[in-house]
Amino acid sequence: MQPGHHVVVSALAEDPAAGIAALTVAPMAAPDPATLGPRDVVVAVKSASVNWVDLLMTSGQYQHQPPLPYTPGLEYAGEVAWHGPEVTGVAVGDRVLVDGLLAGPRSLGAYQRWGGYASYAVAPAEAVHRVPGDLTLDQACNLLGNYETAYHVLIARGRLQPGETVLILGASGSTGLAAVHVARLVGATVIAVGRSDAKLAVVAAQGAHHVVNCRGADGGLRPFRDEVKALTGGRGVDVVYDGVGGELSDHAMRCTRFGARFLIAGWAGTPLVAAGKGGRGAPNVNRLPTNLIMMKSLDVLGCPAAISVAQDPSIRPPRFAQIWRWAEAGALRPYVSHTFPLTEVQAALRAKWQGEIIGGCVLHP
Ligand SMILES: NC(=O)c1ccc[n+]([C@@H]2O[C@H](COP(=O)([O-])OP(=O)(O)OC[C@H]3O[C@@H](n4cnc5c(N)ncnc54)[C@H](OP(=O)(O)O)[C@@H]3O)[C@@H](O)[C@H]2O)c1
Repeated sequence: MQPGHHVVVSALAEDPAAGIAALTVAPMAAPDPATLGPRDVVVAVKSASVNWVDLLMTSGQYQHQPPLPYTPGLEYAGEVAWHGPEVTGVAVGDRVLVDGLLAGPRSLGAYQRWGGYASYAVAPAEAVHRVPGDLTLDQACNLLGNYETAYHVLIARGRLQPGETVLILGASGSTGLAAVHVARLVGATVIAVGRSDAKLAVVAAQGAHHVVNCRGADGGLRPFRDEVKALTGGRGVDVVYDGVGGELSDHAMRCTRFGARFLIAGWAGTPLVAAGKGGRGAPNVNRLPTNLIMMKSLDVLGCPAAISVAQDPSIRPPRFAQIWRWAEAGALRPYVSHTFPLTEVQAALRAKWQGEIIGGCVLHP
């Protein structure tokens, strides 16, 4: 194994913008097998996805923080470069993806410092899987986090049924576009909300039945209740997938039918809701109108995909298996709009931070 390069975070920034500016690419030695365990796998990383959580972690604004220093890159895919003698499932040269809940900065154990923004990463055997179906490595590193989130929100928590209508906020994003795909696979009608006609055109081509641009003439948000009501025969949607938060949540809640489910997936529109440098206790800017929740008899459900597994590990095997089956069958294929060489890590994360990406953004070490 030849030497390579990696990105290292050694101090927490004030906010993600400052965290991005502080990122640099430095030389790294290849992992030394003499220091690794019998069940370890060295992956030569080819593709690493840029996740919202990667951004938040640079400033400690995510709920889990790996010990410093660590290499960012929650999810990655590549080729097996070396494995310990007790590893049986994969061989040197295999195309693999690595499970970001079992290795890398979002995992909880001994592999947190090994993220995907590097030429090499080390993961335990149970985290390493041959790439399903005919997915490319760029697609493979966008599979688990995005689609497990969509599954957890829409299926495990939302109980989305065939024939129901779901309003998806932030549908052009990586988890939002996965939600569009999953809702289609369930057999639901999808109304996608976004602020850009160009991005919404891609979301429609990716499967949304209807798109609604929520950007107003003044550049802010505009109400879209009447449009959504018209699209649902005056009734309102059965389910809302909210990955944006803030003012957009309020507009979306007015689009629901009586007794709808309102699923909180994230708050990409209000990312500074937590304090920087790992601080806690910032005022929460996401507030929902309790009068609407009560009068419309809404079920408002929080839907954390990773924390829920830590609380109840039994929920993961069925969702992992379903996503794997869909990917094997070619029914599900992550969309990637942007790729960057690792040397342009700052440009890649900035593009994600500024909302320029549709679906996935991938770094190539
Ligand atoms: N529930 C979970 O377990 C889980 C797992 C992963 C991520 N998340 C969370 O889900 C959220 C989305 O993550 P992601 O990776 O999909 O992010 P993303 O790729 O950046 O997508 C977010 C989308 O939200 C829209 N948006 C952003 N700011 C907005 C604003 N101020 N007003 C209106 N719309 C705005 C943008 O769409 P347009 O530009 O088209 O409007 C953007 O494409 C994040 O908060 C993340 O932390 C949750």
